[in-house]
Amino acid sequence: MKNYCLITGASSGIGREFARNLAKDYNLILVARREDRLLELSKELDTECVIKTLDVSKRENILVFFEELKNYKIEVFINNAGFGDCGSFLETDIDKELRMIDTNVTALYLLDKLILKKMKEDNIKGYVLNVGSIAGILRCGPYMSQYYATKSYVVSLTLGIRRELKEGKTGIYIGCLCPGPVNTEFNKVADVKFALKGISPEKCAKYALKKMFKKKAVIVPSASIRFILFFRRYLTINALSRMVSKQQKRKIYE
Ligand SMILES: NC(=O)c1ccc[n+]([C@@H]2O[C@H](COP(=O)([O-])OP(=O)(O)OC[C@H]3O[C@@H](n4cnc5c(N)ncnc54)[C@H](OP(=O)(O)O)[C@@H]3O)[C@@H](O)[C@H]2O)c1
Repeated sequence: MKNYCLITGASSGIGREFARNLAKDYNLILVARREDRLLELSKELDTECVIKTLDVSKRENILVFFEELKNYKIEVFINNAGFGDCGSFLETDIDKELRMIDTNVTALYLLDKLILKKMKEDNIKGYVLNVGSIAGILRCGPYMSQYYATKSYVVSLTLGIRRELKEGKTGIYIGCLCPGPVNTEFNKVADVKFALKGISPEKCAKYALKKMFKKKAVIVPSASIRFILFFRRYLTINALSRMVSKQQKRKIYE
């Protein structure tokens, strides 16, 4: 009998591609707010799909949902739901940014905590993949400051937990997927256009899974972004923030 894979943000983009790729080997628990999208996806997949319509930005929803997961053996968890926003920090919308913290940070943290504890209790040497971003590695992102900060949290949390899991000899993997631009609905939600060429969500998910099963810590799916990250080490923080600022402004103002 197949174990389960839980994916948040499965209704579009990278999360939906994770579902398509993992359906061969796992039963799926698919989470997002748009039920019609999840149902459509489940019809396409040749595996058992549990659909959960859920707003993860509300922490009480997560706690109730977790109770419902008690009897599922979860071997893979893709902690992917998230979104961005763009603009000058003095002008961006407070409610949207607070929702971003609730989704990209609080929900991601709470789900990691609950699922990792469950994996240990269930004695499963499973896989947890947090979806961060290149933004989380670069850290300073003028005109997308809040988004970069949430993704820095994701990278930092992942690497800390990773060391603890290793030293605790749990056999449980955790890693962080840090893509550059991927052609999904991300731009529409964040109200931006990419300054760099994006890769397809299919390529992103395939690459991420290959590296996840090899237990890589930080996964960067495009060669051009790996190249940028290599040269980042030679830049001062001022030079880096000037460069990112220029790129970010191209996304909104051109
Ligand atoms: N695309 C990029 O360039 C890029 C680059 C780096 C990192 N990322 C990260 O990749 C992840 C996936 O994004 P994507 O590019 O695939 O964008 P997307 O196509 O907009 O997908 C985002 C997914 O998250 C779900 N979601 C958002 N808020 C939610 C909430 N409150 N509760 C439940 N589900 C929620 C959405 O589902 P519903 O709307 O149906 O709820 C959707 O399934 C995000 O964490 C994003 O930050 C993206």
